Amino acid sequence: MKNAAMLIVLALAFGSLTAFTSSGGNEYLGSKSCKACHSNKKMGGEQYKQWSKGPHASAFKTLQSAEADKIAAEAGHKTKAAETKECLSCHVTGMLEDGAKFNKKFKNDEGVGCESCHGAASGYKSKHAKDVAAGHKLGLMNPSVEGGDAEKLCVTCHNEKSPTYKKFDFKARWKEIAHPKAG
Ligand code: HEC
Ligand code: HEC
Ligand code: HEC
Ligand code: HEC
Repeated sequence: MKNAAMLIVLALAFGSLTAFTSSGGNEYLGSKSCKACHSNKKMGGEQYKQWSKGPHASAFKTLQSAEADKIAAEAGHKTKAAETKECLSCHVTGMLEDGAKFNKKFKNDEGVGCESCHGAASGYKSKHAKDVAAGHKLGLMNPSVEGGDAEKLCVTCHNEKSPTYKKFDFKARWKEIAHPKAG
């Protein structure tokens, strides 16, 4: 009987853990793996180009600066900002997630990439191009601006734990990084 109770406890614990990880076992591939299709108006948009020009694509580069090293030192870290786990957690894709898996092609220098918001892509990358609904089942996320999920996602990083936190006005900030489909 004890064993059965233990199994139930384990099953519950495991179930709730998987509910909080965004990648569901998928690997992070890096934003370059989205470029071929998502910088092409015929395929539905120029999201890659819009993202590359925006603030998220340079979020890792920001850590490689004297200003960032100073912030890290003031927070009590002995390592440079770009090598400090706590700083990387919000400045690089996937680093907020415990046990995240990264493909060998993945590079920190992409900063906050597509998969930070749309989910680790190894499962859905090929599939969703032909069948978006199947992609969603394989881990593709499309957090809704209207529905409020997008804002909840933003504030996992845009919050007081950021040493340079500025009050986060979702509607205004979303306009700065929106990347809608063409036409
Ligand atoms: C082989 C081409 C291809 C690649 C590579 C690709 N996509 Fe897509 N993606 C598409 C197509 C086609 C659609 C559907 C466009 C439509 O019909 O609206 C789409 C749709 C999407 C959508 C919208 C989903 C929805 O619910 O409407 C998101 C988000 C997305 N892709 C993210 C990504 C990310 C992130 C990557 C890189 C990890 C990626 N895609 C790589 C072709 C691709
Ligand atoms: C994984 C963490 C993460 C998530 C999720 C995230 N951001 Fe950011 N965002 C950052 C970081 C880090 C910067 C700073 C980049 C820099 O200055 O190099 C930033 C900067 C920005 C900026 C530039 C202005 C500023 O505040 O410095 C805007 C606008 C922005 N984000 C909007 C959003 C919106 C809207 C969402 C949700 C849809 C979002 N972000 C989700 C990490 C994140
Ligand atoms: C900071 C978070 C964030 C990042 C980074 C991000 N997206 Fe998005 N993306 C969103 C949100 C939120 C939406 C949903 C907007 C809505 O509700 O209409 C979206 C929508 C989309 C759509 C659907 C557009 C439409 O009009 O239906 C595609 C395709 C897409 N993203 C691809 C990408 C690709 C490719 C990248 C990287 C080059 C990327 N996104 C980076 C948050 C992000
Ligand atoms: C909780 C997430 C989070 C953590 C942890 C974090 N950052 Fe950031 N960082 C952000 C966001 C979001 C921004 C955009 C500005 C803001 O905070 O609203 C940003 C912006 C910055 C900027 C640009 C300055 C500016 O005013 O835009 C620097 C430099 C920076 N961070 C350095 C660091 C360093 C160094 C660490 C580690 C000690 C760190 N960050 C940890 C989320 C984070």
